[in-house]
Amino acid sequence: MTALLETQALEARYGDFQALFGIDLALQDGETVAIIGANGAGKSTLLRTICGLNAAAPEAVRHRGQAIGGAAPEAIVARGIALVPEGRRLFLSLTVEENLLMGAYAKRPGPWTLQRVYRLFPVLEERRRVSGIQLSGGQQQMVAIGRALMANPEILLCDELSLGLAPIIIRDVYAALPAIKAEGTAVVVVEQDINQALAVAGRVYCLMAGRVTLQGRPEELDRERIRAAYFGV
Ligand SMILES: Nc1ncnc2c1ncn2[C@@H]1O[C@H](COP(=O)(O)OP(=O)(O)O)[C@@H](O)[C@H]1O
Ligand SMILES: [Mg+2]
Repeated sequence: MTALLETQALEARYGDFQALFGIDLALQDGETVAIIGANGAGKSTLLRTICGLNAAAPEAVRHRGQAIGGAAPEAIVARGIALVPEGRRLFLSLTVEENLLMGAYAKRPGPWTLQRVYRLFPVLEERRRVSGIQLSGGQQQMVAIGRALMANPEILLCDELSLGLAPIIIRDVYAALPAIKAEGTAVVVVEQDINQALAVAGRVYCLMAGRVTLQGRPEELDRERIRAAYFGV
């Protein structure tokens, strides 16, 4: 079966420094996969490389069997692969609505519109004319998710949604996932928070120092093995 998204022997470098060593990952239609790992493990590099933001060999990333490694980021968004980047990366001088509309430039057909994003996150409709800088961290994260959804992705890549947010806010942000998945969207969540990752994912990959050290279904992975794969002890 051809995977929706696949990496094969994926490598990534920053100059002389090699950040990823032969990553094999597969995502099937409608699946939710988590990528866990400590700070510096290579999680963001993996997502950014899939999105064309870092160089890759063409065959190292496949979307529905087609080689897309190293393609232009706009071309990858146009194929329906959207990133919620680490640290939100909003335009802080623009309003909520302007930020959301930035995500729609790919003009892909699909269910996600401004109205639909506002239904998912009602607080964003209340604050639609407010500039990004005036938002709370949780609201900024909601805008970043909404902006990615505006591209009507079939694959949503989320980089550390919970970073810097209080537990109750993390819960509000993650509460959006079921509605997103209900549209048939496949989701990759990168998390340092192992419990959060295990709670939402059908399958988990653990990265350490640029390599996959463990993979499986949450129910198959005991805490001791996860700890060893995550921390290397
Ligand atoms: N722009 C960059 N230039 C050089 N090295 C980088 C850059 N971004 C990340 N790295 C290095 O690549 C490795 C993986 O980083 P990253 O993918 O950000 O890890 P994670 O997201 O798991 O915390 C780390 O050693 C990090 O220092
Ligand atoms: Mg990261």
